[in-house]
Amino acid sequence: MSKQKANIAVLGATGVVGREITKIIDELNVEFNSIKFLSSAKSAGSKLVFQGKEYTVEEAKPESFDGVNIVLASAGGSTSQHFAPEIVKRGGVLIDNSSAFRMEKDVPLVIAGVNDEDLKKHKGIISNPNCSTSQLMLVLKPLNEKFKIKRLIVSTYQAVSGAGLKAITELRENTKAALSGEEFTPSAFKKSIAFNVIPQIDVFCDNGYTKEEIKVVNETKKILHLREDLPISCTAARVPVFNSHSEAVDIEFEEKVTPDEVREILKNTFGVKVIDNPENFEYPTTLDSSGVDPVYVGRIRKNLAFDNGISLWCVADNLRIGAALNTVRLCIKVIEMELY
Ligand SMILES: NC(=O)c1ccc[n+]([C@@H]2O[C@H](COP(=O)([O-])OP(=O)(O)OC[C@H]3O[C@@H](n4cnc5c(N)ncnc54)[C@H](OP(=O)(O)O)[C@@H]3O)[C@@H](O)[C@H]2O)c1
Repeated sequence: MSKQKANIAVLGATGVVGREITKIIDELNVEFNSIKFLSSAKSAGSKLVFQGKEYTVEEAKPESFDGVNIVLASAGGSTSQHFAPEIVKRGGVLIDNSSAFRMEKDVPLVIAGVNDEDLKKHKGIISNPNCSTSQLMLVLKPLNEKFKIKRLIVSTYQAVSGAGLKAITELRENTKAALSGEEFTPSAFKKSIAFNVIPQIDVFCDNGYTKEEIKVVNETKKILHLREDLPISCTAARVPVFNSHSEAVDIEFEEKVTPDEVREILKNTFGVKVIDNPENFEYPTTLDSSGVDPVYVGRIRKNLAFDNGISLWCVADNLRIGAALNTVRLCIKVIEMELY
């Protein structure tokens, strides 16, 4: 007999990622018995319409998770840390978007279609990787399987939606102020984001890298099961783009590789779409990828600095594959694999 349909909760339902999660639960027709939407006290009581029915957003409290089988959370690290024991204690599975548990040994860090088997090891918490790591995993997985990654360098150009609703509003307001010559004091970012590129995402670590950059390094190794000392470096920058992260990726492989082989593999990879005819100005941009599911790859070429090297350009909707889409795909996997 198959399992009873799951009772689902969306924690952080009023945020940028939470709204997208709600939309995608509907788009992907996730099967559930019941669904509820949770926020902080601030948005509690607000209404949202889901599948034609009006729901009242409730303030998240420990009791909110009574009888809930799967929680899709995007409410920040401290909120997840606060509620995780309450969810797990009640027998629920937390699929978490924050960085709170990603590197914990007992917590699978999973991109659906890349390392699904890791889900079986969960002990109540499953983590969704950081957005800049997520889009890259679908691309690197088949290339690593075939040619074995020897060294990896990633440079990210990240949209403001990755920093939440406040940051989206700030780009709009800051741009308006800059165009009309008015003073503007940034608050979501350390510097003006209008007409600027900021080489800092998250705080700085002792080694000079930012936490965001270190997340790419560590999470990539965990998801692809790469050896601990594999050389990976990342530089992450915030750009004045509303949505979709771009990445310039340089990969050195153990095995010989040609751009045509990479193109052919990626054309047949789940979740990836190749747009690569530079002579006709065909390459993916942030606007191409915003609001849709694929991770787009273009500018695939031989890297001139490495032996067996490939450089490519990778663009994806950070709110979808980088957060909400993968969260909902993980929820579907948990249901299909009966892991709740
Ligand atoms: N944006 C991205 O691309 C992205 C990608 C990957 C991961 N994430 C992660 O996802 C999380 C949310 O990001 P976001 O961009 O959606 O932020 P956001 O727009 O600021 O939304 C935050 C959500 O969390 C809720 N919340 C805050 N404190 C809470 C509490 N104590 N109890 C219950 N709910 C609480 C908020 O409710 P109120 O409306 O009541 O304030 C809101 O629904 C963060 O951990 C972020 O790191 C974001």
